Amino acid sequence: MRVCGIVGYVGHRPALDVVLDGLRRLEYRGYDSAGVAVLVGDGLAVERKAGRLANLEARLDEVGREGFAGTAGMGHTRWATHGAPVDRNSHPHRDTTGRVAVVHNGIIENFAALRAELEAAGVELASDTDSETAAHLVARAYADGDTRGDLPASVRAVCRRLEGAFTLVVTHADEPDLIVAARRSSPLVLGIGAGETFVASDVAAFIEHTREAVELGQDQLVVITRGGYEVLDFHGEPAPAKPFTVDWDLSAAEKGGHEYFMLKEIDEQPTALADTLRGHFSDGRIVLDEQRLSDQDLRDVDKVFVVACGSAYHSGLVAKYAIEHWTRLPVEVELASEFRYRDPVLDRDTLVVAVSQSGETADTLEAVRHAREQKARVLAVCNTNGAQIPRESDAVLYTHAGPEIGVASTKAFLAQIAANYLVGLALAQARGTKYPDEVAREFHELAAMPEAVRQVLGTTEQVKALGRELSEAKAVLFLGRHVGYPVALEGALKLKELAYMHAEGFAAGELKHGPIALIEPGLPVVVVMPSPKGRAVLHSKLVSNISEIQARGARTIVIAEEGDETVRPFADELIEIPAVPTLLQPLVSTVPLQVLAAEIARSRGYDVDKPRNLAKSVTVE
Ligand code: M6R
Repeated sequence: MRVCGIVGYVGHRPALDVVLDGLRRLEYRGYDSAGVAVLVGDGLAVERKAGRLANLEARLDEVGREGFAGTAGMGHTRWATHGAPVDRNSHPHRDTTGRVAVVHNGIIENFAALRAELEAAGVELASDTDSETAAHLVARAYADGDTRGDLPASVRAVCRRLEGAFTLVVTHADEPDLIVAARRSSPLVLGIGAGETFVASDVAAFIEHTREAVELGQDQLVVITRGGYEVLDFHGEPAPAKPFTVDWDLSAAEKGGHEYFMLKEIDEQPTALADTLRGHFSDGRIVLDEQRLSDQDLRDVDKVFVVACGSAYHSGLVAKYAIEHWTRLPVEVELASEFRYRDPVLDRDTLVVAVSQSGETADTLEAVRHAREQKARVLAVCNTNGAQIPRESDAVLYTHAGPEIGVASTKAFLAQIAANYLVGLALAQARGTKYPDEVAREFHELAAMPEAVRQVLGTTEQVKALGRELSEAKAVLFLGRHVGYPVALEGALKLKELAYMHAEGFAAGELKHGPIALIEPGLPVVVVMPSPKGRAVLHSKLVSNISEIQARGARTIVIAEEGDETVRPFADELIEIPAVPTLLQPLVSTVPLQVLAAEIARSRGYDVDKPRNLAKSVTVE
């Protein structure tokens, strides 16, 4: 697995400052090591350091930042499981002369062969990485043959030889006024300022300077200079690139007084929901964006798959209940990493909904490719403009959660549920399984949810206090039924990833088939209750489940609708949420679970934005 943050800059400001600021905003992508290279005079100043960006900054202070006084440079923040996170494996990597520097995100799959070829030619490699091979190959192409003295042509020639996924940013000390960047199946976006140009893995890296961006396509290369940019394919032909304006600004990418991004992002959920729904109901109809599927295509759908990973997968599990209910279509929700390996039954009338915050998750991207090969229609639900998953899909519905920096998904998850529901309503509308007034009513109920979430956010002190109390617990179980079941899974995932605590989510009805054996005195069990009015039968069954576990000594923490008095006697701790329609309850019941996990993690002294062993985007399988 490798997920890294990359930034490159050519302009009029001190490149070191621009690059370090950019890396700070990309650190969510990886935080094993960091490095910078700045074109200085006729040379390259490079520094790199294992550990967080702060280590690199301390190192720069030691060696003196004055040696980095140039206006073109690049940087990298790395996440690796291949090639230990030590100084020598940190990027940028250089060729043997030290005049070429490369930063890389992705995996060069044929690196063993390339490495052998370089070693046979007498090149001594200084790291264990695949990335370093690119630096030597570019240097050799630049030194010889048709590409001699031409950096863009040298990079193109190397890209044609690379297999796998990569974003590369390359500098050569002989070409101090330009930087070359290239991409295949790995993100790269341009930022266009006045007299300055940026390349980065994510617009967050340059949002402080410009909101004007350009999306690069697959197998494209860009040459950036102070005055602009040129996009080419790997054969040197001009290639189309898509300009866009980023619809959020610097404040959205900063903590705004919060201790952690995640805490800010939890608080932003009402806005994320409202922004995701905005504009999708017009003239009495649900409207999707970038709708490259016709109404007839939607009418022809006879089966829906939702494919996704992690929290995005849970958003699909939630949506299954609504989509099946509204459309009467069968909905299968599948982990993207499993989907293409089991030969799912897909055809032209299958709609595959690929849900991804980043839009670059490799498992989900491969599932999309598999679905399209099988002629299924693919609709992406994505939070990142122009990312690879929406680019390769037939249609896209963007969630407008804004940048999510905390590794644990919060606002993106709620926005995904809302977007998945819009897909369900659009299908119901096209297929006529709901009358227009019913579709309108469902949408308006959805549109009332930002306010309900705001209400939950106003009452989190009790949950935080509970989190502090539970910080010593060894394990926590989560139970739910119906839409509360995926909420339980999501609550357990949050706790695992943030607090490194053993946590499991179960369908409460399954308890008696095994998991009840886990119950022991004092074990905290969080139960997500359905509404006593909306789901009376399930409610009473869940009350029985709680009384069973309470009788066995568990500490019951019950999330229930305000005024649900029947459950009170069985709740050692009762957390009340507003009464909302059954299918929408996950939008409110998830929030206390996010707050709980964050507070337990904080009490245990963990960095909730950057949990161990995790990264925000997982760009290889
Ligand atoms: O970017 P994506 O939505 O495709 O990411 C999918 C998962 O990796 C992601 O939701 C992950 O599970 C989160 N860390 C959970 O909080």
